[in-house]
Amino acid sequence: MSNTKNPSEWTPPAFAIQPVTAPANPAAEDLVTQLLATSNACSDAILMSPDEALPPHYWLLQLGNDLPRLIRPDGTAWNIDYRSGKSQQRAAEHKPARQPLARALGIHKIKAAQRCHWHVIDGTAGAGADGWQLAAAGASVTLVEFHPILSMLLVAAIKAATDTDVDAATQAIAQRITVLNERVESVLNNRDPLPPSRAANALYLDPMYPNRRSSAAVKKPMQFIQALVGPGPDPITVLQQGLKALQHSTVARVVVKRPSNASALIVQQNWHGQLVTIDAGAVRFDVYLLPN
Ligand SMILES: C[S@@+](CC[C@H](N)C(=O)[O-])C[C@H]1O[C@@H](n2cnc3c(N)ncnc32)[C@H](O)[C@@H]1O
Repeated sequence: MSNTKNPSEWTPPAFAIQPVTAPANPAAEDLVTQLLATSNACSDAILMSPDEALPPHYWLLQLGNDLPRLIRPDGTAWNIDYRSGKSQQRAAEHKPARQPLARALGIHKIKAAQRCHWHVIDGTAGAGADGWQLAAAGASVTLVEFHPILSMLLVAAIKAATDTDVDAATQAIAQRITVLNERVESVLNNRDPLPPSRAANALYLDPMYPNRRSSAAVKKPMQFIQALVGPGPDPITVLQQGLKALQHSTVARVVVKRPSNASALIVQQNWHGQLVTIDAGAVRFDVYLLPN
């Protein structure tokens, strides 16, 4: 994980995509093409047959298991799976709309039966944990993730969570989630990728921020995301696009997750509307609204 310590030293990983069973796999070929075409997503991307040896320092993406698995060069494996652990606890949570994240996105103000009409764009989906929490609170969520590998892990995880052998509460959450492999700026500027039935009510952003904690303190999903994405797109530019969308009424609120001790990405002096903060322990949510 040496390339995560200092974002300025970050170089994108090289990926080998390996279908476990069928060597000729159109999804794997598409992913290689997509990776090579996405700016800063990889230093190389190759298709490998199951019996080929992995070149040194390559990350391996194994397709064809229950869920795709990403394996970094030190052998540590990770995937996204909403059917167990914290995500499944979310499905059973009491009053999930009262959680600080759901309150920041305005979900608590909507009657429970109407919450599925409250559409949140999670513009920085990552592993989709926050997006899953918002869907567990009842909202419909579009997960927007520009990195092709993260995006395909999300698609596979959502699909697996809708399987008939999964518990009904988990299935219901997954059915409220859509994944888009896009830059959120393009989604906000060009509404075409969003079906008309999913006009957005709120935009949520959880941008990458410099990691000041020791790597041992960073949980596995975030270690993987940091190594895959590095510093990521400039969050202030992304927020500026979000605030433009707010001014054009494309969304009714924009929420940014920040470390509790960091300043706002765009401070009140530079925003003519309201800026409200909701504390949630180590993090806080900055809620940008139009003037009253
Ligand atoms: C800190 S992570 C988000 C973690 C996420 N909230 C979760 O619960 O897993 C930020 C993610 O946003 C993605 N991202 C950053 N800027 C983006 C942009 N402009 N458009 C789409 N995705 C973006 C990065 O690739 C990364 O996966």
